[in-house]
Amino acid sequence: MLILGIETSCDETGAAVFDTAAQKILSHALYSQQRHELYGGVVPEIGSRSQLEKIDVIIQQALADAHVTLEQIDAFAVTNRPGLVGSLLVGVCFAKGMAWALNKKIIGIDHLEGHVFSTFLKNDGTVNQELEFPFIALSASGGHTIVHMVQGFGQLSMIGQTLDDAAGEAFDKVAKMLGFGYPGGATIEKLAQQVGFHDFFKYPRGKKNPDQISFSFSGLKTAVLYDLIKKGAYDLTTGPITEKLTETLQQQVASSLLVCIGDIFCDALERTLKKYPAVKSVAFTGGVACNKYLRARLEAMCAKNGRRFFAAPPMFCTDNGAMIAFVGGYKAEQGLFDDYTLDVVKG
Ligand code: KG4
Ligand code: ZN
Repeated sequence: MLILGIETSCDETGAAVFDTAAQKILSHALYSQQRHELYGGVVPEIGSRSQLEKIDVIIQQALADAHVTLEQIDAFAVTNRPGLVGSLLVGVCFAKGMAWALNKKIIGIDHLEGHVFSTFLKNDGTVNQELEFPFIALSASGGHTIVHMVQGFGQLSMIGQTLDDAAGEAFDKVAKMLGFGYPGGATIEKLAQQVGFHDFFKYPRGKKNPDQISFSFSGLKTAVLYDLIKKGAYDLTTGPITEKLTETLQQQVASSLLVCIGDIFCDALERTLKKYPAVKSVAFTGGVACNKYLRARLEAMCAKNGRRFFAAPPMFCTDNGAMIAFVGGYKAEQGLFDDYTLDVVKG
């Protein structure tokens, strides 16, 4: 079967073709909105309008790159939850329209399931056969920080999550405090690298509840903020104070933040591995998983605990159509189709 995957849950417009017989992503096209930098975050109204402008060309590009026609597609897999309702509606309505007009199948996909299974995709679009069940997956982005237990294709349950902010949000907000634009994760990584990933300021790691797999980043963000105020580099009303916010201070804050988040991730996942001895591997995905330092930290933690480590290729860590097409592929093989009443799930 040929599956066309469509992703429009936030500010990325993605489409991809997955061939279930070849077990390969034949093509993937993506449009990433850059305009939000002006506003310091994602603006839902702008997001959904941009989805509407781009979805047609992105789907056409995915089909052309895969050398297939729309008529050859057997099923349309589309993200219908969770996400921004206006953005989700664009993908769902588009997919429903095509499926209905061509009398083809449709499958609604959970965006988070897409992220978890993106860890099976290799750079060349083939499927990694080495990732064995059961494994745990950490999905960390600007919107979520979740640990799933994964027992099989489509068999996943959430076993931990953030109690407040997402990890990506902590990177984005601290980057803003340091006077940088949105999104800030890659900037923080670059600054931290310049000073060798040292822990200069030893920010609080938060309280640990040994019975719970959870994360908390809100206190960390506040700790950074008050430390900057104490150093005279930030004012609550006017923002960053450039004379005091030297390049060295920016690098040291970024580095301390990154090391702290590395510690928090490693600690939570190490405790999870101890709790679930049958787990063979750890998988890492979501926009934050683009971070090479965090990948290396988690890989070292896995090696220490005798587990294997898998991370999605950076292009499949951030929102994309390929992960949706791949999940659509195994759902189609399992016969799990929806009907044309498929709708966006709110909330
Ligand atoms: O998955 P994604 O593209 O979108 C959602 O939020 O769903 O993730 C974006 C997030 C942003 O918070 C961004 O700062 C973060 O991923 N990010 C990074 C890096 N690249 C992107 N965080 C840390 N290090 C990076 N290299
Ligand atoms: Zn996402």
